[in-house]
Amino acid sequence: MSSEHSRQSATGASNTFIYVAAALAALNGLLFGFDTGVISGAFLYIQDAFVMSSFVESVVVSGALVGAVVGAAVGGRLADRIGRRRLILVGAAVFFVGSFTMAVAPTVEILIVGRIVDGIAIGFASMVGPLYISEISPPEIRGSLVSLNQLAVTVGILVSYFVNFAFADGPILALAQDVVGAAGWRWMLGAGMVPALILGVAMLWMPESPRWLVEKGRESKARDVLARTRSEDQISEEISDIEETARKQADTDLSDLTQSWLRPALVVGIGLAAFQQVTGINTVIYYAPTILESTGFGNSASILATVGIGVVNVVMTVVAVLLMDRAGRRPLLLTGLTGMTLTLVGLGAAFLLPGLSGVVGWVALVCLMLYVAFFAIGLGPVFWLLISEIYPLKVRGTAMGVVTVVNWAANLLVALTFLQLVDVAGKPGTFWLYAGLSIAALAFTYSLVPETKGRSLEDIESALRESALGGSGQEAFGSRSSTDDD
Ligand code: BGC
Repeated sequence: MSSEHSRQSATGASNTFIYVAAALAALNGLLFGFDTGVISGAFLYIQDAFVMSSFVESVVVSGALVGAVVGAAVGGRLADRIGRRRLILVGAAVFFVGSFTMAVAPTVEILIVGRIVDGIAIGFASMVGPLYISEISPPEIRGSLVSLNQLAVTVGILVSYFVNFAFADGPILALAQDVVGAAGWRWMLGAGMVPALILGVAMLWMPESPRWLVEKGRESKARDVLARTRSEDQISEEISDIEETARKQADTDLSDLTQSWLRPALVVGIGLAAFQQVTGINTVIYYAPTILESTGFGNSASILATVGIGVVNVVMTVVAVLLMDRAGRRPLLLTGLTGMTLTLVGLGAAFLLPGLSGVVGWVALVCLMLYVAFFAIGLGPVFWLLISEIYPLKVRGTAMGVVTVVNWAANLLVALTFLQLVDVAGKPGTFWLYAGLSIAALAFTYSLVPETKGRSLEDIESALRESALGGSGQEAFGSRSSTDDD
């Protein structure tokens, strides 16, 4: 019934409203990307502004990651309790306060407080953006729409490079300083207030997720929301699908995530969350200039090449957005991971090349760009998309929160260990370690990750429930593909 419904809605009422709502909600991704990217440039100047021990320096850099772990931990439950839309509004406000605090911080302690507050908002944003978009989308375009959030993450990272560039020196900084005579790094960090404000104001006009409304028994409100994008027939069908799913849950206490039928979905989410980070993406995003400088590129060439890497990340994520609902999640993930493995092996090998002038640098740069390209069509968007699809409605926010905590904790772990790892194992050893972990991710995906293309969220949930009843657990949940519905 639900796939019949998805076919109808593909040809049914206009999706314009959904596109607008998804694009605005994707500003969550922009904030997430901007804020994780901006510190690399700002930090160079913060170092000159305050006297800091190396421990305090690392807290300034990683404070946002610590905050994000906390934000994801709290945000999951909040999303289920107060609703997706309200959490986005709270997140935008927290983001604004964090960015403002950093911009005006008179001492390094207050700067750290601002970083952590900002991180909490990043933690909220990283999970609630995909969650909200997933729940307002019709099944046949859900993959592309949720991936818009990841596209915004990559745009946010790129924008942060440009903002860093603009406020590092030169005419833009001079102009800004004519208005308010603050140092460049204050402008860089304060710039986050702009998208936070836009997101907050825009969300005031956006509706709550219809699925959350039904789950809370506010069905007529849910009908109003769906009426903006679906025909009368489609609305009744969709509401009854959601209600049926919610009814099945009424007799189970889902507050406990350790129940056995949820296990396959938790294993998939937690596994992908960890693999998304331990395969090394942020060593490139955060340390690309350092890696490139060590291969013989000069200062400004390294920064320029880093911008190139950011552009590749955006462009290939656009490709992923276009392919997500056609190729499906599994093929993109498997292709992406295969490419990441090969390019990491190549990157490690580049550092073993004899020091021919320039060659090492160019081989490393090509490998880095291809590695990011493969991440961008697979593990980047597919992880955030899948975790917004595979959890039962009643605990969706909470489960996404748990999985997102794992993602940020793994991110922190890699950020804190990368430089030490290079000291101990050398660059080849470090990148080959990430290659080994990519192979593990490939095996994990191949055997456990389900295909969700074209299926309604209710359909995915009942497959998970049935697979537990049928006793085949992970296998049935994992092996069911969109073609089963046709
Ligand atoms: C990851 C981030 C990463 C970004 C790069 C996201 O999906 O969660 O950790 O920095 O992709 O594009």
